[in-house]
Amino acid sequence: MYEATLEVQGIHKTFAGADGPVLKGVSFTLEGGQSMAVIGPSGSGKSTLLNILGTLDEPDQGSLVLSGRDPFSLDEPDLARFRNGAVGFVFQDHHLLPQYSVMENVLLPVLAFGNVNDTFLARAKTLLDRVGLSHRLDYRPEKLSGGERQRTALARALIMNPPLLLADEPTGNLDGGTAGQAAELLLELHREAKNILVVVTHSDQLAGRMGSCHRLSEGSLDEVRPVS
Ligand SMILES: Nc1ncnc2c1ncn2[C@@H]1O[C@H](COP(=O)(O)OP(=O)(O)OP(=O)(O)O)[C@@H](O)[C@H]1O
Ligand SMILES: [Mg+2]
Repeated sequence: MYEATLEVQGIHKTFAGADGPVLKGVSFTLEGGQSMAVIGPSGSGKSTLLNILGTLDEPDQGSLVLSGRDPFSLDEPDLARFRNGAVGFVFQDHHLLPQYSVMENVLLPVLAFGNVNDTFLARAKTLLDRVGLSHRLDYRPEKLSGGERQRTALARALIMNPPLLLADEPTGNLDGGTAGQAAELLLELHREAKNILVVVTHSDQLAGRMGSCHRLSEGSLDEVRPVS
C-alpha cells in the first residue's frame, strides 16, 4: 500500500492547436483522508486536471508527486503499473466491460498486472457487499441499473486500495435520489480507506460535502465556499 500524499506544484497545460493554456499554474497539496471538489464551467479544464492527477496525461510544466513518487519520471510500463495501484477512477460513464460479470469487472485491475488470489477475491466480495451488490456478482453490466453500474465502478476503483481516488462527474448520469446515494457511498468509502478523494462535479450538493471546494476558472484553481 502506498502512503496517501499528493503534491501538485505549478501545473501548466496547453493543447496543440488550442487558443491558449487550459491550466496556468495549478498548485495544491492533499493527504490521506482529505477530499476536494473541483467545480467550474464546461471547458474550464476540470477533466484535463483530473487526467493529469491520474497520470493519464502529462503536464507541460510543473510537478506532481503522488505517494512520494514522480510518476512522469517512470517509463510507460512502470507508469501503467504505478497508476493501476495508486489511482482509482470513477467516471461519469461507468466504463465497465460488457462481456464480464460484476465480479470480474471489479477484479480487472488485479488481473491487469497479476493473479487473482484468495485475498483479492475476498476483498472484491467485501467491496461489492459494501456497495450493496452481493446479489449481483454474476450479472453482466447490461442487466444492471445505472446506479448499480456506478456502484460496481466504485468497487473496481477501490479494489487495489489506491491512495488517490478520482471521480469525474460520478453522479452526472444518475437521477436525484440515486445520485445522492452514490455520492454518500463514495464519501463513506473514502473516509474508511483514508485515501485522497478529488471529485469534479456540477452538483453544489456534492461539492458542499467535500473537505474543500476549488473552482477552476481561466486556468487557475482557487478555493471557494460551495453554495449549499
Ligand atoms: N486532447 C485534447 N486536445 C485538444 N484540446 C483539448 C483536449 N482535451 C481537452 N481539450 C480542450 O481543453 C479545454 C478543457 O477541456 P476539459 O475537458 O478539461 O473541460 P471540463 O472543464 O472538463 O469541461 P466539462 O464540464 O464540459 O466536462 C476545452 O476547451 C477542450 O476543448
Ligand atoms: Mg469534463
